Amino acid sequence: MADLYREFERILVTEDDIQTRVGELAAQISEDFRGKGSIVLIGILKGAFMFVSDLARQLTIPHYIDFMALSSYGSKAVSGAVRILLDLRADVYKKHVMIVEDIVDTGNTINYLYTVLQTRKPTSLSTCVLTRKEGKSLDVKVDYLGFEIPDVWVVGYGLDYAERHRTWPFIAELKKDVYQT
Ligand code: IMP
Ligand code: MG
Repeated sequence: MADLYREFERILVTEDDIQTRVGELAAQISEDFRGKGSIVLIGILKGAFMFVSDLARQLTIPHYIDFMALSSYGSKAVSGAVRILLDLRADVYKKHVMIVEDIVDTGNTINYLYTVLQTRKPTSLSTCVLTRKEGKSLDVKVDYLGFEIPDVWVVGYGLDYAERHRTWPFIAELKKDVYQT
């Protein structure tokens, strides 16, 4: 435990902040989709597993959960071309679909996903993103955003660095010497 903590620079978003914001997002989404039938939340694995589960529990409208897993080619902290590792079980044709993502960095991943899901002709397609790095990802459609964060590598609440730190309940900045070597 203690050794793992030594890789953190500082906590950027506390557990309380996350839970409060997730509640606000769920309230907003519930209001926006009330009376429109069910929505399908698509959690993007692995990063969004905590976020989608907390968000879903606070929704007050009918909803379903599905998952996709994506991977970018390339090394630990670099994003490149995207490929689908696990696709949806359900058909999203004529459904209200919401992509639930942990983080938008360059915007590559979410833009790719958006394009892929759009071809399946959902009634609506929206995005709910927990964190977005400031000053990046210019051309990304984010309908619901949790937090703007600095352009550093973050871990916790689903986010990892080489699979480490994923299950902390807060979001922390990783020390630069951990990922810049
Ligand atoms: P993008 O395609 O550059 O927007 O990057 C999105 C994906 O890269 C996310 O789904 C994460 O899996 C990963 N990623 C980007 N930045 C971070 C970070 O700071 N911490 C952990 N994962 C990240
Ligand atoms: Mg991810």
